[in-house]
Amino acid sequence: MAKPSRNTYVCQACGATSTKWQGKCAACGEWNSLVEETDAGPAPGSGIARGSKGRVIKLEALKGSTDEAPRFLTGISELDRVTGGGVVPGSALLIGGEPGIGKSTLLLQLTANLANAGRRALYFSGEEAIAQVRLRAERLGLANAPVGLASETNLGNILATLDDGKAPDLVVIDSIQTLWSDMLDAAPGTVSQVRAAAQTLIRYAKTAGSAILLVGHVTKDGQIAGPKVIEHMVDTVLYFEGDRGHPYRILRAVKNRFGPTDEIGVFEMVTGGLREVANPSELFLGDRDAASPGAAVFAGVEGTRPLLVEIQALVAPSGLGTPRRAVVGWDSNRLSMLLAVLEARCGVSFSNQDVYLNVAGGLKINEPAADLAAAAALLSSISGVAIPRDTVFFGEVSLSGAVRAASLMTARLKEASKLGFANAVLPESGDVDTSGLKLSLSRVPHLKLLASRALACD
Ligand code: TYD
Ligand code: MG
Repeated sequence: MAKPSRNTYVCQACGATSTKWQGKCAACGEWNSLVEETDAGPAPGSGIARGSKGRVIKLEALKGSTDEAPRFLTGISELDRVTGGGVVPGSALLIGGEPGIGKSTLLLQLTANLANAGRRALYFSGEEAIAQVRLRAERLGLANAPVGLASETNLGNILATLDDGKAPDLVVIDSIQTLWSDMLDAAPGTVSQVRAAAQTLIRYAKTAGSAILLVGHVTKDGQIAGPKVIEHMVDTVLYFEGDRGHPYRILRAVKNRFGPTDEIGVFEMVTGGLREVANPSELFLGDRDAASPGAAVFAGVEGTRPLLVEIQALVAPSGLGTPRRAVVGWDSNRLSMLLAVLEARCGVSFSNQDVYLNVAGGLKINEPAADLAAAAALLSSISGVAIPRDTVFFGEVSLSGAVRAASLMTARLKEASKLGFANAVLPESGDVDTSGLKLSLSRVPHLKLLASRALACD
């Protein structure tokens, strides 16, 4: 006889369970997020029954022969770069991003590429009808690729299809939130359905040796919807981000069991789909206006790749009691810190001024080395003196106002030199190899020096 099932209430925001319904989740504080789900008891094999006999496992040494994970290239070099050199068979990838950012487009281009290269690539769309996917393929010029396409949300049907015939090389599930299994009582999109579907598909990937790519929706605050557990279960988590107002899209790895997590892939959304951008610096520098004060070029690094971006600042007299500070593409705490350092250490006051800071091109900068460029933009805007067009900046500013060395300084300078910049303002400390560089270097030990230079031009 089947065991009577227990009912539990699962928070749809954090995955915490509770035995009774509550208006507010006790774990994450989200309101009205608990949903009743029938728990069929512990999954087979997960029960830790006392007295059940285990088998002794042979323990191994750390040193030993290992095979480098075999990979296949996707034909999209920006994607290969982010995954660490291609997709590993038998691995599971999760790709998250806001609606409309281009996840389905990227994955359709990927499946079509692999199918054209003679691999078995399947695309299961749970969100769009066959006709919609066909229309997109038509628009991308990929309608002739021998992709196996299905519009399906039932997990059982998908598994039966996967088991039929030769195991596929790549399976795309768009999206994991639409899948449901009739083995569970919960509605599609609930935590237990998403978790069970992901678990089943990952188990399939490991046994069949197919790579599984799951699309995951993100919530308002940018987390992949459903529990964090799917992120723990998969081998690789990629985020597709970008500003909807800009055509640029950045693919970023936040977890990768088979490679580095600090590489980015840059794409541009054009009418023919996503186009790879091999030289992102040219793209993020965009059309620059020579005469206007408040713009400074930051010589940044994303992963191992140098990237030049323009940082724009606007400092304007404030009519408000509390002046406004607004930041796009950078950390607002970092801006507050920089303003405090400029005020306390360099004597430049922003107290009656509104301050706006923007990173051009819709890029998000996380590097502390952007401090010096942001400071230069702020000083240029407050003094009204434009920074020469051919100057780049980088360096981290500490609370004392000292400018600290950054990573990969030579690579930053090389990129700037390659793109025709003539001057670089950089930290005094840290070694750089200047051979072959056509740049004049100005090394600053303290922010005070930059401030006095900028304000002396008044
Ligand atoms: P889509 O891949 O459907 O996004 P997601 O799956 O992440 O929700 O992308 C949809 C957007 O991309 C849509 O706003 C239109 C735009 N787009 C183009 O600009 N060019 C194209 O060739 C395609 C297919 C889409
Ligand atoms: Mg989509």
